[in-house]
Amino acid sequence: MSNQAANPALLAAVIFDLDGVLTDTAEFHYLSWKSLADDLGFDWSRPANEALRGLGRMESLRVFLGDRWGLFTDEQRADLAAAKNQRYLDRVEKMTWDDLLPGAPELLMRLRAARVPTAVASSSKNARVVISRLGISNLLDVIVDGLDAPRSKPDPQTFLLAADRLRVAPRDCVVIEDAESGVQAALAAGMRVIGIGPAERVGRAHIVVSDLARLADRCVEQLLSRG
Ligand code: G6P
Ligand code: MG
Repeated sequence: MSNQAANPALLAAVIFDLDGVLTDTAEFHYLSWKSLADDLGFDWSRPANEALRGLGRMESLRVFLGDRWGLFTDEQRADLAAAKNQRYLDRVEKMTWDDLLPGAPELLMRLRAARVPTAVASSSKNARVVISRLGISNLLDVIVDGLDAPRSKPDPQTFLLAADRLRVAPRDCVVIEDAESGVQAALAAGMRVIGIGPAERVGRAHIVVSDLARLADRCVEQLLSRG
């Protein structure tokens, strides 16, 4: 972690969001919510699911149920969240290194080679199991999940805790995010942000790219420089 002393031009740290940045669990989340909606007798579409990107589990349930929220007791809501999570975990169980998104393994390994500290900061309470299934634990210095940081994005808590555990000042961190709520959280933490996805979603980020594979070499150099 002494990269700054070794090379003062290097950025202090890179903090990755997990779902939708390193791996496409967004689809697994969608299919799990969809199957719950089928059981409850209403439609649930991919566009509707977009609103859940980056939100914690109970915040997601609130958006998912919408006007139906009041029809359920706290205990029933907890049961619904647990049922959705079990369906999600059944899918996560089958994940491997091949489920990393294009460009993710290369970038993680490149940062490792440059001795830039890396973290995952996710609202997901399942982040550790997903990281373990992907086989990237050894490429990460710090993991902050939805259990460590109960205030879900757009609150900056997840990112600030990651910077604290990395022992790096927030202004020296670059965050890579695919969710509007995540971009908001990183900006509120005082960090630089690369948005992955359409400008309508991540347009408030400092740099926007369609996917990690498109983070061209030049962009990575920029990311690694303090300028
Ligand atoms: C991530 C995803 C969200 C998901 C949240 C909570 O931030 O982008 O779509 O709702 O994690 O996930 P969990 O695995 O704790 O249910
Ligand atoms: Mg995400």
